Amino acid sequence: MAKIAPSILSADFANLERDIHNLEQCGADWVHVDVMDGIFVPNMSIGIPVVQALRPVTDLVLDVHLMIDRPIRYVEQFIKAGADYVTIHIEADQPQNTLEALDKIHALGCKAAISLKPKTPAEAAIPYLEKCDMILVMTVEPGFGGQKFMADMMPKLRKLRQMLDEVNPGCILEVDGGVDANTCAVCKENGAEVLVAGSAYFKAEDRAAFVKLIQA
Ligand code: DX5
Ligand code: ZN
Repeated sequence: MAKIAPSILSADFANLERDIHNLEQCGADWVHVDVMDGIFVPNMSIGIPVVQALRPVTDLVLDVHLMIDRPIRYVEQFIKAGADYVTIHIEADQPQNTLEALDKIHALGCKAAISLKPKTPAEAAIPYLEKCDMILVMTVEPGFGGQKFMADMMPKLRKLRQMLDEVNPGCILEVDGGVDANTCAVCKENGAEVLVAGSAYFKAEDRAAFVKLIQA
């Protein structure tokens, strides 16, 4: 059964607690928190204080997606704020720092993940495969919700699954961007175990039914 991680980027920020509790009632598995710094991506969103504010209001897994430059600088603060998974982009720093950041995340008792932008090939993940609990394959250019799903990322997803099966079979795959009632099937067929959905989840007429459809 796949998991759904609704992205609160599409939530009502003035009513975040209400939206989180609603998401629990609808049966969602994780909460996906998109952090943007205006440098790694051309947009800004939310950060450490929001993770800290959410931690006491939910027991759901807080899946923090850092779309920030040189994330090693901030992983500790996000973990102390209450993140369960911290995802960093491999394009955001030198490999040495990315490796160190993954070790740091683990040393602080958190799950560690890397993310790949659409133009980054699966092979770029090789140095990190053994250090990851999860790999996030972007199916849109990071920075904005509501973009069109890139079906051409599916071979990359499959390839990563094959690569992981050799060296780290316990590592899970997540997809993020443009996931909706139509595009979820192909993601699952190609190995995605956690599906992030922002606009499709929050716009769904029946969110509980949408959750079930993704999980099926
Ligand atoms: C994009 C973010 C996504 C975004 C997904 O940079 O990482 O998590 O919120 O939104 P949708 O599902 O609308 O594409
Ligand atoms: Zn995201």
